[in-house]
Amino acid sequence: MSDLSGKAFLVVGATGALGSRIARLLAGRGADLTISGRSADALAALGIDGAHIHSADLREPDAPRSLVEAAVTQHGRLDGVIIAAGVVAFGPVTDIDDDTVDDLVLVDFLAPLRLVRAALPAMEAGGVIAGISAVVAEQPLPNMAVYSAVKAAAAALFTAVRTEARRRKIRIVDVRPPHTETGLADRAIAGDPPKLPTGLDPDAVAARIVEAVLGKETDVPSAAFS
Ligand SMILES: NC(=O)c1ccc[n+]([C@@H]2O[C@H](COP(=O)([O-])OP(=O)(O)OC[C@H]3O[C@@H](n4cnc5c(N)ncnc54)[C@H](OP(=O)(O)O)[C@@H]3O)[C@@H](O)[C@H]2O)c1
Repeated sequence: MSDLSGKAFLVVGATGALGSRIARLLAGRGADLTISGRSADALAALGIDGAHIHSADLREPDAPRSLVEAAVTQHGRLDGVIIAAGVVAFGPVTDIDDDTVDDLVLVDFLAPLRLVRAALPAMEAGGVIAGISAVVAEQPLPNMAVYSAVKAAAAALFTAVRTEARRRKIRIVDVRPPHTETGLADRAIAGDPPKLPTGLDPDAVAARIVEAVLGKETDVPSAAFS
């Protein structure tokens, strides 16, 4: 899958630090892209030539299905889905308000679940779905309990669906990066981030994710980034 000419990819969270880098790397290999985030202007500002822009808020129940449909309609096929959208929140579980909990569940778990359910039947044999869970799926952390739990749920989803998808000749990849200097923690939807050690380089993390997508890997644990 290293030459992606004629292959169609949907990148969800394409306005993000990792998603935008992944989208550019895939475009550089010739993929036909559908890119998504909440802001059409921010997607256009990425300047990825030929990318089809489809803005959507993943908290809306129909958004994942509409994204998959838009990608298939635009390019006539779907070979890859990269789920690079996500939000984080910090603080003791008793302090996080209900709306924040809902957003974490909706964006970090329900949206990936809905994307997988919508994409699998629509994809070409030989295709790939890559989700970015996180190191906290392996090592849940206090003051990040809900984020840890939804990321662990997403990782469990990708692992469990992997065998089902194999029958359709679709590869499911779960990527669990350690802390990366993308600014995600400073964009937390609630709470203040703890003092974190310097994280990984976003360029290196995005490149490692694309390497996994293009190769044959299915599981990319945090240790794969060291
Ligand atoms: N950075 C890290 O240390 C790290 C480590 C492990 C795993 N991860 C995971 O990697 C993924 C990407 O993280 P990042 O660091 O690249 O974060 P980022 O730069 O903040 O990007 C987040 C992306 O998610 C999208 N998004 C957020 N809420 C959304 C919503 N309601 N509807 C649609 N899109 C929404 C954002 O789009 P908008 O432009 O619309 O906001 C943006 O494209 C996340 O799942 C994160 O949990 C990150």
